[in-house]
Amino acid sequence: MIIIKSTREIEKMRVSCGITAEIMENLGRMVEPGVATGDLEREAARFIQEMGVHSAFKGYRGYPAHICVSVNEEVVHGIPGERVLAAGDIVSIDVGIEVDGYYGDMARTFLVGKVNGEKARLVEVTRLALEDAVEKTREGNRLFDVSHAFESRVVSQGFSVVRDYVGHGIGMKLHEDPQIPNFGTPHTGPRLKPGMTFALEAMVNSGTEAVKVLPDGWTVVTRDKKASAHFEDTVAITGEGPEILTCPRKKKQ
Ligand code: MF3
Ligand code: CO
Repeated sequence: MIIIKSTREIEKMRVSCGITAEIMENLGRMVEPGVATGDLEREAARFIQEMGVHSAFKGYRGYPAHICVSVNEEVVHGIPGERVLAAGDIVSIDVGIEVDGYYGDMARTFLVGKVNGEKARLVEVTRLALEDAVEKTREGNRLFDVSHAFESRVVSQGFSVVRDYVGHGIGMKLHEDPQIPNFGTPHTGPRLKPGMTFALEAMVNSGTEAVKVLPDGWTVVTRDKKASAHFEDTVAITGEGPEILTCPRKKKQ
């Protein structure tokens, strides 16, 4: 069942998602050659504590860190640790936050130093696929119109959509119905209504779609070891169309 949120609930999600976006901004500024993924984790833990909010990920099904950090061939759910970023890498950071019972979930892929053309194009196409999907997340459309939007952008650019992991509803839980695949048949699936809130997750591989989980039980990697990118936003359907909730909140003057 897809839960419809009230205006009051969506306002609460603006708060949790706004903080999620602020944390992402701060982490994004740290990305440079020589930084270890564990350094990003330590900073994230510090921001989260300072702001008095909670990580949605730490302890989730035993996940050991506050954020996910996935480098190059790592698709999603990379556990931050010793790996050191080098020029030419791409790094995806995934942040999920709970404030006052409501969740925000967001991911961005950053370029580390100078990155080759093909990898940079992968990141740009993944960003655009999410943008296309957000645009379809509106009343009058059906769920798989959103899925199809991801797929058509990605396939038209010669990349592959990840099929084994999906976006999701979000609200009072990190994962609510529905599951939102990155591929699908247009004009099918549940009808979209105002008050629905989704974490849309564009996950795109530069090679084949095949992925596997490493022995750490979390890190998802491409089987062909080619690069993968991930962009995610939490979006609310309003009467006026989609609203991206994972934006830093404007400071009051
Ligand atoms: N954005 C991802 C998701 O919604 C991150 C989850 S990491 C986990 O599934 F550790 F919490 F599983
Ligand atoms: Co998510």
